[in-house]
Amino acid sequence: LGREIHYFGAIDSTQHKAHELAKGGAPHGTVIIADQQAGGKGRMGRPWHSPAGTGIWMSILLRPELPLYRCPQLTLLAAVAVVQAIRETTGVRAEIKWPNDILVEQKKLCGILTELNAETDQINYLIIGIGMNVNTEDFPSELRDIATSLRIQVGTPVKRIPLIQRILENLEKLYKLYIEYGFSPIKSLWEAHANTIGKRVVLRQLHGSLEGLAIGINEEGTLLVRKDNGEIEKVYSADIENASS
Ligand code: BTN
Repeated sequence: LGREIHYFGAIDSTQHKAHELAKGGAPHGTVIIADQQAGGKGRMGRPWHSPAGTGIWMSILLRPELPLYRCPQLTLLAAVAVVQAIRETTGVRAEIKWPNDILVEQKKLCGILTELNAETDQINYLIIGIGMNVNTEDFPSELRDIATSLRIQVGTPVKRIPLIQRILENLEKLYKLYIEYGFSPIKSLWEAHANTIGKRVVLRQLHGSLEGLAIGINEEGTLLVRKDNGEIEKVYSADIENASS
């Protein structure tokens, strides 16, 4: 990964640029990095605050020869690569909130947005967008209570380049493991870093909300939630919160 790296001082979104490059035939492992994004995108159509100089705003193009249903597994794999890189380079023990938010003390440090281009049931390409608050000292008021940065956690500025290198190395290593041995080693690593499993959660989905106990993820990378009537619900996509009771 990262044999082809495109760096931009300012861009609308590294995700858009990655799609453009992918459609133009860019190879597996192409990386797009920007210092600042004017139109950073988050999950569920939300904007992503991406000011200059303070974060890692990066998209990675993957071209796995895999069926579509394996896409969520690759999203979870990316979260493991990032959480390990944070721990290895700064010592900060971040946790993963399903599917792939990275939190410290319940505040968001990093978000991952996976976008897919598929033909019938095969993945054509996948773009993994990673947005990490690294040296942010102060967030806009609407984010202050819910976001954090590595600088806030560590107390001193954190170098971005070694962190980027480590994320890419980990992604490459885990991707090889995944291609060779399948999802099960990745699943164990994900579960070891997750803060969702074993907790009561509220899921907010397009058609309403649901409460239950998060009991694990299955072999496809889907979250399993046991509802109060005992039924197990498979959750493919949702926003989750810890339940208050
Ligand atoms: C989330 O909602 O948690 C996902 C946030 C993903 C943000 C990153 S920053 C790099 C890439 N480019 C974007 O426009 N979004 C992703």
